[in-house]
Amino acid sequence: MNAQNFITSPVDMGSASVSFIKHFAPSRAVASVTLCVSAIGLFEARLNGQKLGRGVLTPGFTSYRRRTQYVTYDLTPMLLGNNTLSITAAPGWAVGTIGYRDNIHCYAERYAVNAEISILYADGGTQSIVTDDSWTVQTSPIEYSDIYHGETVNLLHKVQELGHAVPDPEAAGYPLIPQQGADITEHERLAPISLFTTPKGERVIDFGQNMTGYVEFRIKAEAGERIVITHAEVLDADGNFYTENYRSAKNLMTYVCDGKENVFKPTFSFQGFRYIRLDEYPNVEVDLSNIRAIAVHSDMRRTGRFSCGNPKINQLYHNTVWGQKSNYLDIPTDCPQRDERLGWTGDAQVFCRTAALNYDVRSFFRKWLGDMRADQLSNGVVLGIIPNTFEYVKDGYSTRISAAWGDAATIIPWELYRAYGDKSFLSDNFDMMTKWVEYQHSAGSEEYLWLGGRHYGDWLAMDAGEDSYVGATANDLIASAFFAHSIDLLVRAGEVLGKDMSQYRELHAKIKAKFREYFMENGMPREEFPLTESVSGKTPVDSVRKGITQTALVLILHFDLCTDEERPALADKLEELIHVYGDLMTTGFVGTPYILHVLNEAGKTELAYKLLLEERSPSWLYSVMHGATTMWEHWNSIKEDGSFWSTAMNSFNHYAYGSVCDWLYGVAAGITATEEDPGYRTFTLSPKPCRALEHVDCTLDTLSGHIESHWYYKGDEVYFEFTVPDGAKAYITLPNGYKETVDGGVYHYTTKA
Ligand code: BGC
Repeated sequence: MNAQNFITSPVDMGSASVSFIKHFAPSRAVASVTLCVSAIGLFEARLNGQKLGRGVLTPGFTSYRRRTQYVTYDLTPMLLGNNTLSITAAPGWAVGTIGYRDNIHCYAERYAVNAEISILYADGGTQSIVTDDSWTVQTSPIEYSDIYHGETVNLLHKVQELGHAVPDPEAAGYPLIPQQGADITEHERLAPISLFTTPKGERVIDFGQNMTGYVEFRIKAEAGERIVITHAEVLDADGNFYTENYRSAKNLMTYVCDGKENVFKPTFSFQGFRYIRLDEYPNVEVDLSNIRAIAVHSDMRRTGRFSCGNPKINQLYHNTVWGQKSNYLDIPTDCPQRDERLGWTGDAQVFCRTAALNYDVRSFFRKWLGDMRADQLSNGVVLGIIPNTFEYVKDGYSTRISAAWGDAATIIPWELYRAYGDKSFLSDNFDMMTKWVEYQHSAGSEEYLWLGGRHYGDWLAMDAGEDSYVGATANDLIASAFFAHSIDLLVRAGEVLGKDMSQYRELHAKIKAKFREYFMENGMPREEFPLTESVSGKTPVDSVRKGITQTALVLILHFDLCTDEERPALADKLEELIHVYGDLMTTGFVGTPYILHVLNEAGKTELAYKLLLEERSPSWLYSVMHGATTMWEHWNSIKEDGSFWSTAMNSFNHYAYGSVCDWLYGVAAGITATEEDPGYRTFTLSPKPCRALEHVDCTLDTLSGHIESHWYYKGDEVYFEFTVPDGAKAYITLPNGYKETVDGGVYHYTTKA
């Protein structure tokens, strides 16, 4: 593939699609024919009318100016004597609207395609056909297409010849790489569960599941009749269709029928939704058997399954899996519906351990970490979103340099190494990890601490007042704690790779000492320490934030910023703060992923289960009790009185808090990978049964084989059954303290409850 061969339409068609056409006829018998296609924008390729490959939304979302993927197809089995290759293109992420600021043209002014047909003749001869000005260009029935705003497909469209393609000098410099990520493909086809009329008189279809993808209609209607639909995740308190939380994203589909039986669905757009509203519909009865919601996400192999005897926890787990499906669409997005759908680094790092339990996410993350390396700034900064979509916006807007967001650079490679035992996750990313850590080292106003800066803080935590986006924990403390954690991970990664990490180990010790001196006193976080004004604008400044919060204690314990002697008192203080807050958590994005682990490690497993099983807000089950089918962005996105949090920031499909599932696998079922022998070659089986769950059934397909952990209560006894794959080793620890190291096999135990 040659990056010089990008072509575009001779007429700028804006947000309408065009098709690039090439006729070709092999001159003699062929051995094989392959096609490579790329686009700045999106493409769908067809040979003799037949769609190529299972992938949709190709070639995915990358940092296009640094790496644009191309997709390879084998044309051999479909080849005729005379062939027509048609590549339909659309603006997609690169050229259409992307980012919450109505940005368009983030990566290019116009969409462009690049293709190469490579023919290998039976006699050994070769021929290459590339995109050039011999290709012709036609208009397409897709008269409008945008990721956020939807698509208009007009089957009465009269195709117009636009002339010959022209070279695209802008795209010519965009480096091409073979597709790295998993294909984005269609998955479940959900049937509607109801069609009803809202109090406002809107006709609404409910698919029963919040999801990402699009709706397909099979219909025969009069020529010119239209289907117009909008999408929604929830109904409001009165039962009306609610779209305000989509902000500027229109999610509007318009289909114009031509009198024949047609199948409609978008080609270059997707939506996050559970409901659709029929804004216009042909004059025929709505036949629900011909309407399906198709889930679309990166093609990942399912690896983990968890279920128990508590239907609410099962629903929570289900919601998390759907949160992952909905948000793993080529990049890990924050949410799939509003005018974001961006690769927020903080959300991704929070969830990635859970993600690698539910699915095999190796190629998904290998690709996204490639984008992260490409978009890391020369001073080591990893910004809030990857791909860094705002890099080329003209007013210089940027997401923040934030602790716990940029730390995705160290946490994700390490988590992938833990889950898969593949050192290349560390070696490929070691430079990036080092540069990020060096940036942290240089960022703070005082050596060994990260003081100051503009962070997202303990995002959406509940301890700084009702309408605050950030919690009460001091940014300085969070940032310095993550600085220490990232260095610690860098040291561990370097040692796995056989590098001398003594300098960084020493640095880690100094950071820990300084952290303790600055933020702690007598083994406790200080109530007060000098606070740096960390955030400007409307967001509260650090001077209102504190050192003694649940999140602060969780970070100190989880990142080992204390001595072993100090642990019990810190854990007791955490328990006290949970009680002070009415036996509830106050943690946000930063503290939530670790709080149950910290409690369990401190021997407070009962309290951890109490939080897990809590149904008041803030809790995981609050949303379940309010009918959620995916994880909500806020603990209380819908408040007790039925009102919504705010229209500005209220997604019902935000996976971050779904990170609790790694506790279900790791503690409730007790399956945890070890760092000394990762990829589950050696793992621990240390389940912590709880009567409220009655039983647990958990299976995990790892690269070391199939693992199972089951337990159930019978009277005053608990029965355990474990499967350890051949060739692997497991350290079993039962709740009564019994320990055993076992090799492959099936093992049964009984203990007193
Ligand atoms: C996103 C979050 C993200 C955050 C940064 C939001 O708009 O939806 O999930 O991490 O910005 O704080």
